[in-house]
Amino acid sequence: MENIIKIVHSTWAYLVVTILVLATFNAIAGLVSKREYQAKDFRISLFALIVTHLQLVIGLVLLFVSGKILWFTDIPVKDIMRNAEMRLYNVEHPTVMILAIAALTIGYSKHKKKLTSTPKFKFLAIFYSLALLLVLSRIPWNAWF
Ligand code: HEM
Repeated sequence: MENIIKIVHSTWAYLVVTILVLATFNAIAGLVSKREYQAKDFRISLFALIVTHLQLVIGLVLLFVSGKILWFTDIPVKDIMRNAEMRLYNVEHPTVMILAIAALTIGYSKHKKKLTSTPKFKFLAIFYSLALLLVLSRIPWNAWF
């Protein structure tokens, strides 16, 4: 069970990173070129939102099945915090990824409320860039590749 969810989470992560990069660059390009916001811009930002929210759900399940999550063991919190790998899996990765998904959700909902192209692209560019940076900063790269 743990293995299946882990494989799904680490495979889905490729899609998350790819669509986040595409959606972020699409928003920045739209903002810089001052072009009209189109249906395809809406679709790419929505797709990025859906894909990352699914990753959140898979990640939340992982918290309860992963052998790397030591919250409910006898290992003291101070030992978890002193060890970089344990800290990454138990604290940094889940927390920062949730913050990234929150930033993405704020950006998506704020851009939807704007009526003209430039503010729409601006909200997407700022919040999706922030989300992308947060995600890239806390991926366990060594374990993933
Ligand atoms: C949205 C962006 C996310 C991305 C791109 C992502 C990516 C990854 C990657 C690449 C791994 C390493 C998998 C491997 O060892 O092959 C991993 C592990 C893990 N992730 Fe995420 N993750 C995300 C969100 C989350 C969230 C929101 C949670 C929890 C709330 C979470 C919990 C975990 C856990 C517990 C592991 C360790 C699994 C294990 O090795 O047993 N992830 N994640």
